[in-house]
Amino acid sequence: MNRIPIWMDCDTGTDDAVAIMLAHALPELDLKGISTVCGNTIQDNAYWNTHRLNSLMGAHYPVYRGAEHPLLKPLKTAAHVHGENGLGDVELPIPEDAVVRDEPAWDAMYACALAHPGQLRLIATGPLTNVAIAFTKHPDMPKLIHSVLVMGGSAGAGNDTPAAEFNFFADPHAAEMVLHSGANYVMCGLDVTLQAYFTMEQLDALAASGTRAGWFTKACNMRAWKILSRFGMKGFCMHDSCPVMYVAHPELFEGRMAGVVVETRGTVTLGKSVTDLYSDKQFPFKNALVLLKVDREKFISILTDCILSIG
Ligand code: RIB
Ligand code: CA
Repeated sequence: MNRIPIWMDCDTGTDDAVAIMLAHALPELDLKGISTVCGNTIQDNAYWNTHRLNSLMGAHYPVYRGAEHPLLKPLKTAAHVHGENGLGDVELPIPEDAVVRDEPAWDAMYACALAHPGQLRLIATGPLTNVAIAFTKHPDMPKLIHSVLVMGGSAGAGNDTPAAEFNFFADPHAAEMVLHSGANYVMCGLDVTLQAYFTMEQLDALAASGTRAGWFTKACNMRAWKILSRFGMKGFCMHDSCPVMYVAHPELFEGRMAGVVVETRGTVTLGKSVTDLYSDKQFPFKNALVLLKVDREKFISILTDCILSIG
């Protein structure tokens, strides 16, 4: 099988961690490297949490540090959801053979794009600060990669403000830059990611599987559950697993091309992704494939099998 080369840029928090495990376990994918960005947690946590996942998976993916803060906005983390350490306050060991690499995230992902011209899928599961810096420093990168697949935005309501989704609100300027970079862009916004959830029963089954990966998947999400269950959520949304799953199994999803713009100057609407999906007034461009539906049963079945396969 010709495996698909991917790069992940993560603010390794809890659902990012599950997405990294999915990328590791899907046979269709070839994870080349992981860069870390501030967002759910501070850069230092995101960076060392990603090393910790290497330890959990028995893997040795190269890890590269990125931005310590958004392009213009001050950093606001989500410790109330992802815990003080970013992994739901679950302790995982840092591998003794962890390699600290000096190359910054934006140069490392560019080098990988050069090594796989036209083939690399760049998957961003946190704020787009690193990707925006990479595209600015290396203007040929948007066309060098196959596509950029972003967990971010929402054609509907937000989850960090009534208007804005967390990753786009965290760095709206970076989100707007990447959307208009000219790259082939797949938007995995809340419209589709809110459908991709584990029920508590499904998490309990993972935890009871006797695997560390299954135990971790439930354990790291328990802090979030205390909050999300108050909002009547049906379960644990695996937001960040959506772009990963789409690369390997696009047949599970439905979407439409749309014009998408991010509000960077509003007060109430800062970080809002405005699409022309539901308007007769159209933007003069179609710059993103906006995913709108996913076959949840198949999504969760594949994700569960992948997590269990890690052991
Ligand atoms: O809105 C959900 C997104 O914000 C996910 O990427 C989650 O990890 C947080 O970063
Ligand atoms: Ca994330």
